[in-house]
Amino acid sequence: LARKVTKRKNVISFTNAFHGMTGVSLGLTGNSYHRQNVQDNNVTRMPYDGYMENLDTIAYLRKFLQDKSSGVDDPAAIIVETIQGEGGVNVASAHWIRELSQLAKLHGALLIIDDVQAGCGRTGDFFSFEFSDISPDMVCLSKSISGYGLPFSLLLIAPSHDKWDPAEDNGTFRGNNLAFISGAAAIKYFWSDSSFSSSIRLKEKIIIRAAEQMRDMFPQVIKSVRGRGLFYGIEFWNPETAKEVSAKCFEKKLIVETCGSDDQVIKLFPALNIPDNLLNRGMSILNDAVQTQHNFTSN
Ligand SMILES: Cc1ncc(COP(=O)(O)O)c(C=O)c1O
Repeated sequence: LARKVTKRKNVISFTNAFHGMTGVSLGLTGNSYHRQNVQDNNVTRMPYDGYMENLDTIAYLRKFLQDKSSGVDDPAAIIVETIQGEGGVNVASAHWIRELSQLAKLHGALLIIDDVQAGCGRTGDFFSFEFSDISPDMVCLSKSISGYGLPFSLLLIAPSHDKWDPAEDNGTFRGNNLAFISGAAAIKYFWSDSSFSSSIRLKEKIIIRAAEQMRDMFPQVIKSVRGRGLFYGIEFWNPETAKEVSAKCFEKKLIVETCGSDDQVIKLFPALNIPDNLLNRGMSILNDAVQTQHNFTSN
């Protein structure tokens, strides 16, 4: 749609991005394993916030967009996750997102926020970009948007960009009626006031406290802790340790996935309405697994 609206072809996406498994979205994805059978030659990948130490990634992108000889064509869109989920829980700052938004506007590109993983309250607000005070041109939503685990995804489009002709963008399984009903009910139930947001932020404190304690206790094992809301990553120095910790947790009936370019990050992604005692229990299982790995590697 952004290509249609702007009559341009190029789309900018970022290192470590993950945007799904269909043709165009795979072309936008960074991971070469997933991307191996797809070619989208109209994608330019740029470094995400913090991708390289001491590199101002916005200044870098700005230079490519300003310079008519940079080899990067004017983009139809810039698509970005405010926190890269599959890419390793890489967190963009509010400042970086704001500058990106301004840059997109300046160059006539639409800003698409892929909020499939970070949206629907995951970071504390309904949309993950609210803290940066921007207004994207499009927003992708999926995962828990139905509120009930039913298949449902959405593309929110600023009205001025809604240029589809009738049935131009269609598909067999559009419009899951039950998911519409449960999705609308979930929005009403969880988002009519700020109490759900507040409870997410309180639960975040449980995660931060436990994860930072782990990092401080086992600095030889844990490299960093980062995230927002109920979306945290624990990065290990050694990807094998992340794998072992995840397996140990699974033995204790706790599912924690690994993510990142080398699967070196354990992702903490609990249900947003998880009871505090269960969250504490999960963090304690994780702590035990890290301790076991720490004892194993230091012996
Ligand atoms: C940021 C992001 N975008 C897109 C997708 C793909 O979504 P879907 O499976 O609904 O196509 C995912 C899946 O994890 C994702 O994390």
